Amino acid sequence: MNLLVTGGAGFIGSNYVRLVLKKHPQARISIVDALTYAGNLSTIRDVLASDRVKFFPGHIQDPCVIEGIIKSEQISHIVNFAAESHNDRSLLDSGSFIQTDVYGVHILLEATRKFKLERMLHVSTDEVYGSILEGAFTEQSPIEPNTPYSASKAGGDLQCRAHSISYQTPVVVTRGGNNYGPFQYPEKLIPFFATRLIDGKKVPVYGDGNQVREWVHVMDHCSGIDTVLHAGKVGEVYNIGDSNERRNNEIVKILLEETGRDESLVKSIPDPRKGAHDRRYSMTTEKTQALGWKPEHDFEKYLRDTVKWYKERQDWWRPITEIPAFQDFIKRFYGPTLGSDL
Ligand code: NAD
Ligand code: TYD
Repeated sequence: MNLLVTGGAGFIGSNYVRLVLKKHPQARISIVDALTYAGNLSTIRDVLASDRVKFFPGHIQDPCVIEGIIKSEQISHIVNFAAESHNDRSLLDSGSFIQTDVYGVHILLEATRKFKLERMLHVSTDEVYGSILEGAFTEQSPIEPNTPYSASKAGGDLQCRAHSISYQTPVVVTRGGNNYGPFQYPEKLIPFFATRLIDGKKVPVYGDGNQVREWVHVMDHCSGIDTVLHAGKVGEVYNIGDSNERRNNEIVKILLEETGRDESLVKSIPDPRKGAHDRRYSMTTEKTQALGWKPEHDFEKYLRDTVKWYKERQDWWRPITEIPAFQDFIKRFYGPTLGSDL
């Protein structure tokens, strides 16, 4: 297998490359990544040491880049992680989300068709279903996204459906729950709060903090993606979650314990997502489990391990949080509510 991993310098893509290197000793991997604010070569320093991995800087929406790699590396499979991935940023400015999450997916699908690749897997999200107060989404549930991010992901996700129906393009789609684990960019709930608590800074809980997310460890998500890549049926969608529903407040409690901090560092702020804040995510995963996959990471143990990782790997995240672009985003998004606690 000659695999093209897009967005491989980001959180989940980099962990997926690690999994493939171990699980498929014959696989050769090409990573294409635009190295946006969320992509860092420091995230893949270890995998770039392998002679089975090559890195190509570039945007997925650039057909010259994608077609050039497919030809030079004789690519047989694509797994697409490349995306603008943060809801809060999409509320500030959503143009780049449409470019990457919709148009970029179109370019990858066209290349898969043109070069008759064996398979493309598109990594989508449970957020395309929108919010569910009771019960759980199945792969047949309606697509009802509520933020510019989730709507852009829904656009890419549905392009995959349309391509498989219109052109029999061999594409499969996965919809994952909220991921946690090492190398997550420190703007998402768990790494943002862990890194701030390590530094003794206040953490901003949106609204009442009782929103529910279904958390899945990044390596369980990656093993699910790999299972679907090889065993999933063309044109089908597969949910990847761990039935692990937690309120944000429960997560904060564990983060406080693991960093040795107390409630005085928790600041409840008016919800900056307003009506766009999904209350609860929940999915069924029987269809994916029927392919022989199951999640294996105990949430509480591995959440605590993740905090330990952020304590130990300050060499990885400090250069990221110290750059002006990161601080500008924090000021722009949280300035009005965190004020002097920024
Ligand atoms: P991330 O933001 O950490 O990484 C995204 C990567 O894509 C970065 O390396 C970035 O440089 C790269 N990228 C962005 N635009 C690009 C472009 N136009 N061309 C090439 N590369 C580009 O995101 P993540 O958390 O690793 O998420 C990966 C994928 O998984 C995304 O598609 C996301 O929607 C999906 N997903 C994420 C979660 C989650 O909890 N993080 C859950 C379900 C699904
Ligand atoms: P996030 O990690 O951004 O993921 P998503 O929006 O994809 O679910 O947010 C997870 C939850 O945490 C969500 O309910 C919003 C909340 N949250 C906060 O309360 N404060 C924060 O500073 C952040 C980043 C998130």
